[in-house]
Amino acid sequence: MPTPDRRQFLKTATAATAATAAASIVPFSIGAPKGRRALETVNIGVVGTGGRGSGACNDTLTINDNVRLVAMGNLRAEKAMKTRDALKEAHGEKVSVEDQNIFGGLDAYEKVIDHPDVDLVMLTTSPGFRPWHIERAVQAGKHVFAEKPVCLDPAGWHACRRSQEQAIAQGTAIVTGTQYRRQKNYVEAIKRINEGMIGEPMSATARYCSTGIWYRDREPGMSDAEYQLRNWMHFIWLSGDQISEQAVHNIDVMNWIFGNPERCFATGGRFTRPEDSEMWDQMTVDYYYPGNKLISFRCRQVPGTTVDPHNVIYGTEGACYIKAINGGASIVDKNGEDVWAMRGNIGAAYRQEHKDLVDSIVAGQPIVELQQTADSSLTAAMGRMSAYSGKEMTWDFMTNTSELDTFKHDLTIDQAMESPGYAMPGEWKLT
Ligand SMILES: NC(=O)c1ccc[n+]([C@@H]2O[C@H](COP(=O)([O-])OP(=O)(O)OC[C@H]3O[C@@H](n4cnc5c(N)ncnc54)[C@H](O)[C@@H]3O)[C@@H](O)[C@H]2O)c1
Repeated sequence: MPTPDRRQFLKTATAATAATAAASIVPFSIGAPKGRRALETVNIGVVGTGGRGSGACNDTLTINDNVRLVAMGNLRAEKAMKTRDALKEAHGEKVSVEDQNIFGGLDAYEKVIDHPDVDLVMLTTSPGFRPWHIERAVQAGKHVFAEKPVCLDPAGWHACRRSQEQAIAQGTAIVTGTQYRRQKNYVEAIKRINEGMIGEPMSATARYCSTGIWYRDREPGMSDAEYQLRNWMHFIWLSGDQISEQAVHNIDVMNWIFGNPERCFATGGRFTRPEDSEMWDQMTVDYYYPGNKLISFRCRQVPGTTVDPHNVIYGTEGACYIKAINGGASIVDKNGEDVWAMRGNIGAAYRQEHKDLVDSIVAGQPIVELQQTADSSLTAAMGRMSAYSGKEMTWDFMTNTSELDTFKHDLTIDQAMESPGYAMPGEWKLT
């Protein structure tokens, strides 16, 4: 690996870079505990025991000695029981979930949150529920781990703002599933950007291009609500489309470096989605960040195509390549010569977020990082709303004017629900 000539690049550090650094060096607020006891062992309840819920449980039980899993909730309790059995096999006594502490149905989240033994709630359902589950958990005084995205629309963003403020005031933690914020090659690359190694960051390309995504068929006898909850990726009120559900990872990295965008302009469409899917299969968004810095973003899910979920940040003195998953990061100078590189390890980052969360609770210095992830999630929603409407969208509109609330607050499991179909630009309303 080449050795960077730090002096040469540090010379080029500018005041603007220092301003960017101010937004990203301190990545979260530390909540001030208000008379809360620090815990020695943290008891965990999980809501949503699918792929990521099981993975998050495994991550925290692997990395932390001082945690116990004590309660579980899932739409179908049988699935949570299977997950409990598999985790018990792997982690033994750290998994202490009696059958009566496994809850099913749409109100399972309240039973987990209100369980007197639960200190920390892990929220890993489909995204649409997230801001409302977070709000309920914070109101109950529980520590929270919340998977990304944490909101899909302006109403959810306002709920997150309230939760951030309440968590800081009462001294409870909120850590989010934006693992790249804890992945060493990302942290080191952005540290070097902030130190001036590429000069002033001026623009970037961010991509989340991947192959297809799963589609879950309707089972016989399912109500509309049951079907949409099962096949949640394809219904926008539950997933927010690819840009929110998946590509928010890259958008979060852009916001980490450049702050929040001021406006955006997006296009896109669909060729390959199943007939009843509401998703588009591609979107291109030009995000304008403070200082008129243009970030060219695109996401796409089309079977049989190239996977490229990477980022390039262009500066006045060089460029930084940050590759997703385990791709590593590197910096070149303006002549294209390699000056720094580092390998990536996403598995370690997935575990680190749970270590940081539990350590902060035990130390009585809870991390509260919801706002930054709410902002990234709203940035993704802003791109989607611009693409769907075919109109420019501003941060001011998203945060001060729009009251869009896509969540179905009166949802019941046997509800009849008509899908609005996929959005048509020029017709889709910014309600
Ligand atoms: N950080 C990452 O890299 C990463 C990776 C994968 C998924 N995720 C996120 O994790 C979340 C879950 O994704 P997944 O792949 O595990 O989905 P999944 O479909 O495998 O699991 C979701 C589970 O939640 C349950 N559920 C849904 N609504 C519920 C409710 N209201 N109450 C209780 N249980 C409910 C479902 O029954 C299901 O078991 C999503 O937000 C996704 O974006 C993050």
